[in-house]
Amino acid sequence: MVARALQFTFLLGLLAACSASPAAIISANNEAQSAVRELGIQSQIASRLYSLVHLAQYQAIEEGAEEAVQAAQAAYAGHAVLKQLFPWRFAKLDKALKPLIADLPEEQRTAAEKAGRDAAIEVLTTSLRDGFDRYVPFTPAANGSAPGAYQFTPNQTYSVYPQIAQTKPLVLSSVSEFKPAPPNAIGSPEYIADLAEVFVVGRKDSTNRTQDQTDIANFWADGNTTSAVSGHFNQLAQLLLSPNATVEEAAQLFAVLNAAQWDASIAAYTAKYANPSWRPITAITQGDGSEETAAYVDKDWRPLLNTPTHPEHPSGHSATAGASGAVLAEFFGADTPFEIGTEFPGLPARTYASIQEAVDDVNDSRVYGGVHFRHAVEEGAKLGASVAQAVLSEFDNKFKKSN
Ligand SMILES: *[C@@H]1O[C@H](CO)[C@@H](O)[C@H](O)[C@H]1NC(C)=O
Ligand SMILES: *[C@@H]1O[C@H](CO)[C@@H](O)[C@H](O)[C@H]1NC(C)=O
Ligand SMILES: *[C@@H]1O[C@H](CO)[C@@H](O)[C@H](O)[C@H]1NC(C)=O
Ligand SMILES: *[C@@H]1O[C@H](CO)[C@@H](O)[C@H](O)[C@H]1NC(C)=O
Ligand SMILES: *[C@@H]1O[C@H](CO)[C@@H](O)[C@H](O)[C@H]1NC(C)=O
Ligand SMILES: *[C@@H]1O[C@H](CO)[C@@H](O)[C@H](O)[C@H]1NC(C)=O
Repeated sequence: MVARALQFTFLLGLLAACSASPAAIISANNEAQSAVRELGIQSQIASRLYSLVHLAQYQAIEEGAEEAVQAAQAAYAGHAVLKQLFPWRFAKLDKALKPLIADLPEEQRTAAEKAGRDAAIEVLTTSLRDGFDRYVPFTPAANGSAPGAYQFTPNQTYSVYPQIAQTKPLVLSSVSEFKPAPPNAIGSPEYIADLAEVFVVGRKDSTNRTQDQTDIANFWADGNTTSAVSGHFNQLAQLLLSPNATVEEAAQLFAVLNAAQWDASIAAYTAKYANPSWRPITAITQGDGSEETAAYVDKDWRPLLNTPTHPEHPSGHSATAGASGAVLAEFFGADTPFEIGTEFPGLPARTYASIQEAVDDVNDSRVYGGVHFRHAVEEGAKLGASVAQAVLSEFDNKFKKSN
């Protein structure tokens, strides 16, 4: 684990003189984030799209080629995937590509285009067979049925995206060994403690939640006009990446980051749909009928944030944060301090002394937001980190070209 981080630093020092630039990777990342914002794409689906773009870029790069050639190979690969996924954005995508290939002689440019498009076609073709397109019917428990079972929350008419649980992971051969602990049993002391916490701190009109806690919930909400919480961690990767990183280093970082997010999401959704459990709004507005929780029943209770339209346990937000945190800690060191902004209007940047502090805030944000029990965010972040460790160790074996 340490070896990768050291090697990374070493390479940055060595190659600074060759006018290395990660521009081709950053550009594709920004274009993907823009598309996610424009379409209000949900975080897990965004991870899938980000991972396809960046895996194609990673695979397009020919090891040992000149940096300018590698940059063009990656630029063409990103452009090809993005144009297949979001064809109506062609004018923006063409405009972003143009400066990235402008300095290359025509013959090299033609070869780079072929390498980029071939990699894009391979990645997209493989993705068509992963099962993500399948129709997987899901019917939640009826309104008012047994305590603990997932039910539609107010105004919800469908549940997203049950087929993720049956989608083939991008890097791992299976997520079957990655299982969070189940939801706490209704009536157990752990359940009651979590219920009491979200009841008080997560309600829309809470007088208990501090302004800073409200800000944390909104800061990491990353709702439908943003690049999603998966995109928020891509923004963090951009912040931490040296402007002197080589295109290869940048390609590896974004490919691994987004593959880890996506495989972690598959593990999280597999658990969500294997044991669909109720959201705080259902637990609190309906109650479980016991005396111990009677104080936490309130039919008018509403959460600060909108409740996502899928089962509660484990938290998808925290799985994404845990996976991202593990990858970023691996590349940059766990104790890297940073300051990062948010797309939520009007909130200032926040400073963090370590990557784990940001993961902790994401955990807290879902409880302060009233959409998760504490147990689900802890299990989500832990699950995301374990999947990411496996992705880090398997990624090179699966995708390394001969070198
Ligand atoms: C569940 O049923 C109750 C009582 O009939 C009703 O007030 C509530 O709106 C229903 N909830 C949902 C999510 O449909
Ligand atoms: C459900 O939708 C109705 C009509 O748009 C709205 O008045 C109500 O506030 C919504 N309920 C919740 C809990 O969001
Ligand atoms: C919020 O509620 C918790 C649990 O009831 C309590 O320990 C804490 O002191 C309260 N905080 C504020 C600021 O009211
Ligand atoms: C999108 O986000 C806005 C702002 O948070 C919210 O008002 C709106 O209801 C959301 N739309 C959907 C479809 O979730
Ligand atoms: C990038 O390289 C330039 C030129 O070698 C150097 O001055 C600068 O400090 C480097 N920046 C970082 C963040 O390493
Ligand atoms: C977030 O989850 C991780 C992994 O379980 C855990 O170590 C951490 O304490 C959690 N943070 C918070 C604030 O809940």
